[in-house]
Amino acid sequence: MRLDKLLSECGIASRKESARAIRAGQVTVNGIPAQKADQQLDPAVDRVVYCGREIRYRKYVYVMLNKPDGYVSATEDGKDPVVTELLPEEYRKMGVFPCGRLDKHTLGLMLLTNDGQLSHRLLSPKHHVPKSYAFRVKFPLSAQDVTALETGVDIGGYITKPCTVTLDGEREGVITLTEGKYHQIKLMMEAVHNQITYLERTTFGTLLLDQHLARGEWRELTDEEIQSLTR
Ligand code: URA
Repeated sequence: MRLDKLLSECGIASRKESARAIRAGQVTVNGIPAQKADQQLDPAVDRVVYCGREIRYRKYVYVMLNKPDGYVSATEDGKDPVVTELLPEEYRKMGVFPCGRLDKHTLGLMLLTNDGQLSHRLLSPKHHVPKSYAFRVKFPLSAQDVTALETGVDIGGYITKPCTVTLDGEREGVITLTEGKYHQIKLMMEAVHNQITYLERTTFGTLLLDQHLARGEWRELTDEEIQSLTR
């Protein structure tokens, strides 16, 4: 692989910036200053240092974010802040995007990646990837409401698929869906004449929201988490 390609794919520097840094002697390969941007190297073996920083090459990155209130699940928005603003610039340069959507006021677990294939697989209705949400609603939920939610309710002409609802009180609990229609939980609660007042995603497939992440904080997935997601 070319040295400048490696640096640009890692979101470190554009090809032009790489060429400039190489000319300035700021890039070394295995401790030797690089001479040319088209220098060939093996990312698995060769050690690249750019401006004093060791570069670990990877084509794909997988980031868990604890989404705060008020951010939209997008890479750009004319009006509201977007979740990718919470990540370092280099992830954005690598083309990281949110895998699925959470509403602007929904909190919690969000996966961001530049792996389009994995994202597609996780979101495909064919795969029924379960997602759990802790919720609070305005009015007490009756046993009939829970049965209706679990069996399927009409949200604007669509009957939702069976799901599970576990109450932790009259007005709060956890709902686990295997599908993801737009505003689904909000609309499901409206279908039983209720109203969501708090919604936080806590799981996404095999991923669990890391309790050490404060709102707005992120971390890369561990190798085990990536493997369990891709399995
Ligand atoms: N359902 C909703 O209504 N909102 C979300 O953000 C996620 C699921």
